[in-house]
Amino acid sequence: MSIDTEGRKTREVCAEDIALQQQYIEKVKELNFLSAAQKGKPKHYSISTFGCQMNENDSERLAGMLNAMGYTETGDIQQSDIILYNTCCVRENAELKVYGHLGALKKLKRENPDLVIAVCGCMMQQSEVVEHIRQKYGHVDLIFGTHNLYRFPELLHKALVHKETVIDIWESSGVIAENMPITRKESVKAWITVMYGCNNFCSYCIVPYVRGRERSRRVDDIVNEVKTLGRQGYKEITLLGQNVNSYGKDFGDSTDFADLLEKVNEVEGISRIRFMTSHPKDLSDKLIEAMRNCEKVCEHLHLPVQAGSSKVLKEMNRKYTKEQYLDLVSRIRARIPGISLTTDIIVGFPGETEEDFEDTLSVLKQVRFDMAYTFLYSKRTGTPAAKRPEQVPEEIKKQRFDRLLEVQNKISKEINDGLLHKEVEVLVEGLSKNSARKYSGRTRTNKIVNFKGSNELVGKLVKVRIEKIHTWSLEGTII
Ligand code: 5AD
Ligand code: SF4
Repeated sequence: MSIDTEGRKTREVCAEDIALQQQYIEKVKELNFLSAAQKGKPKHYSISTFGCQMNENDSERLAGMLNAMGYTETGDIQQSDIILYNTCCVRENAELKVYGHLGALKKLKRENPDLVIAVCGCMMQQSEVVEHIRQKYGHVDLIFGTHNLYRFPELLHKALVHKETVIDIWESSGVIAENMPITRKESVKAWITVMYGCNNFCSYCIVPYVRGRERSRRVDDIVNEVKTLGRQGYKEITLLGQNVNSYGKDFGDSTDFADLLEKVNEVEGISRIRFMTSHPKDLSDKLIEAMRNCEKVCEHLHLPVQAGSSKVLKEMNRKYTKEQYLDLVSRIRARIPGISLTTDIIVGFPGETEEDFEDTLSVLKQVRFDMAYTFLYSKRTGTPAAKRPEQVPEEIKKQRFDRLLEVQNKISKEINDGLLHKEVEVLVEGLSKNSARKYSGRTRTNKIVNFKGSNELVGKLVKVRIEKIHTWSLEGTII
């Protein structure tokens, strides 16, 4: 085998592995075929996904593998032959929910010993979690992690044939599994993971420990996936990575995320491109120019600030100050007027004083984000921040959270108010989840718009005049 880079070597190994997984897909399919012939009904699966869009995208791959193995999706766990949880460990409450679900399945497993209960994803990359599940939830059949997700067919086959708990967790891997089956949840917009892992080690965050170091997918692989999506009729794509701004740094040449955006912008059929998440320390002027020049790249940027106090930012290991963040926002707005900005904020980081918190409020008021996703700081074992003695009491965290929400909601509503009676371009996604008999879509600035429509409009760009404003959505009429 010719090996010129570490990346090439792991990818070649992986190609053999993928072929092997294809064989296991066939083997499980055969088992399911025999079972369907005996029982007169096909086997069903359900997947519950926790956490971020990258997990959602991973679940689409798991669904693709399950479909290829002859399973059919059902939303009803009572009807399921496989129940799969794709977990998240960014905050404690996501973990607690998974334990709650697993506990509730004990009875179902007792009644139906053939049921396969599987858990995978970020939570499983923590050895103490796996141990806890082994001890307390003995009815779980299969446990695997983030690095060997593509080996699901092989692991499932083992669990089905040997009828014993299968646990397979890899410490890390350079492997990028291309060409695995995928069943996407939506038909108008699609997620595309462009890189895996994170090198940043923000002091509160568990992600680098469970997702490993940054690995970028090859430009050609991504562009080919986007081309396929364009041919299939998808109109919008979102490029995903924990920090897309460091895309390509592992290639050892000058390729970066701006170059990728330009390539993807050329793909026919796609009308909108989004991406997330951007780390402020890595957002270059070159990328701002690329966003400005690529007509399909939407005028929206998710730019987590996390905190407004430079002292807290330093302790978070974010590598920028409040002033640098504000300066970056000014540069972005100068080059892309009207861009909408959203952010993530953590409230109650260890040692956060009232003054620090007021700095966060002041950043909110200065930047005037379109929307902020606010999180109560959650202690994650193994991260540096968890070891700090000055943890903020829950009660104070909650009070600050409510104060922050009040400020942000007012700003979001005021920004949206500016759209009253305006015409906006909306990509129609389908029936609205919240408002009965209405259709729903988003503006280029990522605002949800509900309106009366019809099925033929799904996947089309329409002009809507805005007539009613809410904090998190807009209503209007197609013109
Ligand atoms: N506690 C609370 N929020 C966290 N995030 C990451 N780690 C933690 C934690 N320990 C938030 C950050 C990140 C988002 C995805 O989750 O704001 O941007
Ligand atoms: Fe976590 Fe920071 Fe990496 Fe985002 S950039 S995944 S917050 S370590």
